[in-house]
Amino acid sequence: MSGDWAVELHGIRKRYGRGRTAVHALRGVDLTLRHGSYTAVMGPSGSGKSTFLQCAAGLDRPTAGTVRLGGTEITGMKENKLTALRRTRIGFVFQAFNLLPSLTVEQNVVLPMRLAGHRPDRRRAAEVLHQVGLADKARRRPGQLSGGQQQRVAIARALVTRPDVVFADEPTGALDTTTATEILTLLRGAVDTHGATVVMVTHDPAAAAWADRVLFLSDGEIVDHLDREGAAGHGLDRDRAAGHGLDRDRSAGHGLDREAAAGHGPDRAHADRIAARMTSLAAPRAHTKAAA
Ligand SMILES: Nc1ncnc2c1ncn2[C@@H]1O[C@H](COP(=O)(O)OP(=O)(O)OP(=O)(O)O)[C@@H](O)[C@H]1O
Ligand SMILES: [Mg+2]
Repeated sequence: MSGDWAVELHGIRKRYGRGRTAVHALRGVDLTLRHGSYTAVMGPSGSGKSTFLQCAAGLDRPTAGTVRLGGTEITGMKENKLTALRRTRIGFVFQAFNLLPSLTVEQNVVLPMRLAGHRPDRRRAAEVLHQVGLADKARRRPGQLSGGQQQRVAIARALVTRPDVVFADEPTGALDTTTATEILTLLRGAVDTHGATVVMVTHDPAAAAWADRVLFLSDGEIVDHLDREGAAGHGLDRDRAAGHGLDRDRSAGHGLDREAAAGHGPDRAHADRIAARMTSLAAPRAHTKAAA
């Protein structure tokens, strides 16, 4: 039955360093995420959010515990096999965008295809660049773009292969409200239209409010969660979109218009509840910050 879950974490611990200076970044995280779900992860700085995301995405190896992606256990997987799985089925948006400065925007976007040994699909690259509002920047280099534009290139790169799971670390951290809304709409669309599973770290309650569920991390543990009212917990609600009488053709490729029209934007009250829950979280214990 494990194939039922897009992501499964069991007893995940992550320790950096040893002895008295050891940092226990994750202290036993258990979590299962459905296919087509949208999860936000919040918590104070240093609470382990990035570590959690990197362990879940197979970019970092936990000290203990198991990770399964789409039913496949990746914990003991050989590096080359894990890399292949990551390149084909996972999209990752890093907290620092990790674009290659010597490549053009388009080359950065098609990189996951090239790394996976596929021919770069330039039409698909143009499509995702259009979706993130950078259709005219394909030939620029990252250094010639603003921070927000670079962040959008990173998101285009994460979506280009239509991955099963997208892990995003602060994808809207560097963006103005309008662009952030476009990005959140895009991620919501990847879930609702394409059935992708999205896990997104954010500090912003308004961003987290787009997710079906918000998880709260404190000091390396999931201490709380908050569900969006009416969220089924498994995104795919095509019926709802169809009920709005939307043009199906325009909905291809997770178009922004359709998603906005489908009413997936968060409501203020939910964002306020998330913000209230965040402020009630304890600050990380002093010793977890020792190696910072
Ligand atoms: N490579 C590393 N070596 C040692 N300690 C680390 C390393 N990476 C992270 N840590 C420590 O692990 C803890 C969790 O870090 P992590 O980056 O996961 O936090 P975070 O919740 O993402 O914080 P932020 O909101 O500031 O990005 C912190 O105490 C951090 O200092
Ligand atoms: Mg972080």
